[in-house]
Amino acid sequence: MKYTIAVIPGDGIGPEVTTQAKKALEAVAEVYDHIFLFKEAKMGACAIDQTGDPLPQETIEICKKADAILFGAIGDVKYDNDPSLRIRPEQGLLRLRKELDLFCNVRPVKAYPKLLKNSPLKKEIIKGTDIAIFRELTGGIYFGKKELSKDGKSAYDSSIYTIDEISRVTHLAFQTAQNRKKKLTLVDKANVLETSRLWRKTVIEIAKQYKDVTLDFMLIDNAAMQIVLDPKQFDVILSENLFGDVMSDVACAIGGSIGVLASSSIGEKNAMFEPIHGSYPQAAGKDIANPLASILSAAMLLEHLGLLDEADVIQRAVEKSLDLGLTTQDLKGKNQYAASTSKVGDFIADYIVNQDDSSMNFKNIHMGQSTII
Ligand code: IPM
Ligand code: MG
Repeated sequence: MKYTIAVIPGDGIGPEVTTQAKKALEAVAEVYDHIFLFKEAKMGACAIDQTGDPLPQETIEICKKADAILFGAIGDVKYDNDPSLRIRPEQGLLRLRKELDLFCNVRPVKAYPKLLKNSPLKKEIIKGTDIAIFRELTGGIYFGKKELSKDGKSAYDSSIYTIDEISRVTHLAFQTAQNRKKKLTLVDKANVLETSRLWRKTVIEIAKQYKDVTLDFMLIDNAAMQIVLDPKQFDVILSENLFGDVMSDVACAIGGSIGVLASSSIGEKNAMFEPIHGSYPQAAGKDIANPLASILSAAMLLEHLGLLDEADVIQRAVEKSLDLGLTTQDLKGKNQYAASTSKVGDFIADYIVNQDDSSMNFKNIHMGQSTII
């Protein structure tokens, strides 16, 4: 089959990790006889530098026409350090989410057996963790009216949710829970916020259609603690935009590195796939960033297109690279050999094409590093 994939490399390490994800997709195309037409588009600080706009109209058009979107990362220190700048890279991503109505953000958090030692949390606490965080992505405080007073002495951001906005993401979360361990936890701040109480009321009502799923509730402050104290209690977590943003970063402690967590942002017509990590400008251009989150985002993209075997082979390739220790420095000890970004990407592509080889062959031939490791 032929698919058009919009590729937005973005800022910082975005371009180099996205290149590795494209390598994986090209390998999949070769093995499974697909054609992936990559259409590159600009967004973020690089787009501001080139066009003055963090989200040029052309990017929106390319994304709307594509079967799926692969995105790298956004942000640059020169904007982070100057809050007075009115045009900011992140506005590009937020506008794109809104333009394409990508209301449902899914962030899977898994404790890979080989990475248990990388987590600062105790092995026995995280072993076996498998959570799907469903974050509402186009509403709440991110998109409500906001203002800085004329004298610059006060500011406000407002959070608004409608029952419709809550309902559509809630249905998707329940449907996913039905295919998993059948538990859904709504995370909110219903003891304080009116929007949270509307979430609870709406979710309780919708739960009647999903009687096989157990629903429970947790306040965000407690949830942030429970994720690190006892992550195995969770199956599907559902939350509003801001709480979902915070919780998914907290949950990265379980994965051992933010460099291995992928995400999807789904709307009625479009879908975008991206790593959870940011643009990590300090590592940009050094060929040291972990490409696995971007590669796993490509696997989620394939799954979304219904290409399940293809998605599966990418996941297996990633697990193989973890098993063999062919990983970047964020997953390594101080004096251990670490592979470069591009080397990990080459290995993943190689595995996809040569799936039947034994581990031994991979170690000796494909890695080409057996004497160093
Ligand atoms: C994320 C990021 C974004 C967000 C930023 C870059 C605007 O942190 O995707 O989690 O807050 O949504
Ligand atoms: Mg975030």
